[in-house]
Amino acid sequence: MIQTVMKVAVAGYSGLAVRAGTEVQIGDEKIAIFKLTNGDVRAVENRSPHPKGGVLSEGLVSGNYVFCPVYDWKISLVDGKVQAPDIGQVKTYEVLVEADEVYILLG
Ligand code: FES
Repeated sequence: MIQTVMKVAVAGYSGLAVRAGTEVQIGDEKIAIFKLTNGDVRAVENRSPHPKGGVLSEGLVSGNYVFCPVYDWKISLVDGKVQAPDIGQVKTYEVLVEADEVYILLG
């Protein structure tokens, strides 16, 4: 089976503030993108796995993690895993930065 990957431009790289989240929407999917202190850009679904589901793009970023603004869950921006003692996982998206453009790859 041939898999087609969709490459969607979502933001300008230089316009993204470091350690701040931005919400972008592709179709029905709301995605939070974050520029980390090391310059990497990460993308995860913009909803905490917590039952009350906070908006992660409003969370605080520290290193490779975002802290949910509602219950302070610590969520990895690398693999989407919620860190102990809490459990859960958010969907992560592949990000590509080319020139000054940030793309999300949807497979
Ligand atoms: S509502 Fe998710 S831990 Fe925040």
